[in-house]
Amino acid sequence: MAVLIELKDVTKEFNGNVVLRGIDLTIEENEFVTLLGPSGCGKTTTLRIIGGFVDPSQGEVLFAGKNILNTPAHQRPTNTVFQRYALFPHLDVFENVAFGLRVKNDSISTLSRIRQIQDQYQETLKLKKDASEIRALKKQMRMEIQVLRDPNHDRKKQIVELKKTLHETSDLANKEQLKSQINSIKSEFITKKTKELEITEKVQKYLKMVGLEGYEKRQVHKLSGGQQQRVAIARALINEPMVLLLDEPLAALDLKLRQEMQYELKEIQKNSGITFIFVTHDQEEALTMSDKIVVMNHGEILQVGTPVDIYNEPANRFVANFIGESNIIDGIMKDDFLVHFDDKDYVCVDKGFARNQKVDVVIRPEDIDIVPFGTGHISGKVISIAFKGVHYEIDVKTKDRIFTIHTTDAQKMHAEVDLSFGPEDLHVMEQW
Ligand SMILES: Nc1ncnc2c1ncn2[C@@H]1O[C@H](COP(=O)(O)OP(=O)(O)OP(=O)(O)O)[C@@H](O)[C@H]1O
Ligand SMILES: [Mg+2]
Repeated sequence: MAVLIELKDVTKEFNGNVVLRGIDLTIEENEFVTLLGPSGCGKTTTLRIIGGFVDPSQGEVLFAGKNILNTPAHQRPTNTVFQRYALFPHLDVFENVAFGLRVKNDSISTLSRIRQIQDQYQETLKLKKDASEIRALKKQMRMEIQVLRDPNHDRKKQIVELKKTLHETSDLANKEQLKSQINSIKSEFITKKTKELEITEKVQKYLKMVGLEGYEKRQVHKLSGGQQQRVAIARALINEPMVLLLDEPLAALDLKLRQEMQYELKEIQKNSGITFIFVTHDQEEALTMSDKIVVMNHGEILQVGTPVDIYNEPANRFVANFIGESNIIDGIMKDDFLVHFDDKDYVCVDKGFARNQKVDVVIRPEDIDIVPFGTGHISGKVISIAFKGVHYEIDVKTKDRIFTIHTTDAQKMHAEVDLSFGPEDLHVMEQW
């Protein structure tokens, strides 16, 4: 996959307050990237810097290798879905989604597009020396601009030519043929009507994609929160941006709808081939949806990786805690593949630490088995049992600490039990 966006050493200060500290991040084409971290860690600020709504105090933002810090938000290949959906209350669902296309077609954006074309040609022209080459390029530029100003430009020219031939010829059969040719070109003219047809087709395509087929005429204020959110997503998708920026778009939804939308968003992303940069502080959401998770805290990136990497090999205590409930234990790395905690040595799969280095040992609650007393590694007593729907969350108090265990097997309160785990269940990390 090709690199699409790069943030290089991006720092942001608000009134002397540093909120982003040297962010380095690479985002690839067609990736679903999630920025994950607690409130205030700088997720929204990072997203707004990519979208062009906030300038970094320092650092670079590259799109396909080109610095875009001087490109205004509306000219970047991005579209944003904000947490508060900001739909137009006086427009129906259809017009809310069509809005982006109508704006695109208006004269202001044509002008800015023309300016863009001129700038691009100027850059190329500067490098050319050959006079005929320069002439050819200029002609090409004029043609491109003319087509933008008048989408029927080429067709009109063709008709003028054909009419000229028509006047010059006296052969009747030939005349008829020319006339029908002219009529056929005329029928291809792009008019308001054909434009409208195009818009309708596209709106319907994207409403279908977000599961809102048949909702065209509905008033947006009469839709549920989830439906409004889908309208907002369709409205952003219809512009077919290269990158969609989503800032906690599901935060206002209840759990069930949220999970449904998580699945749907992932599907939309896969089917549309658009790169999604998604912000959330919900680790479960991040784990379910992402190709790549970027864990942030206090304006810094702590770890970047796939959901499996982040979950199984958290870089430090903060990530381990944030990404899911964990048992985190102070330990000592006695040697490669040998870690010591709670008065015992355990074989593990980690290596490369200094001898007797202090480490954090993470054991996930679902990786611990409760076994009959005397048959496991550590003995303890069941002190709490909570049913969580699919599994039980059981606390076992040992001599040194309380372990949390997730299991589908029921246990008796106050039972004397042993805990058991394998070498691969111990995740050893440097102390932070
Ligand atoms: N325009 C601003 N002026 C001053 N400080 C700001 C501004 N925008 C953000 N901040 C501060 O920058 C820090 C990061 O804010 P940001 O909105 O990026 O956090 P976040 O990770 O999106 O948090 P949340 O999960 O609560 O949305 C916060 O301390 C916030 O108060
Ligand atoms: Mg935010």
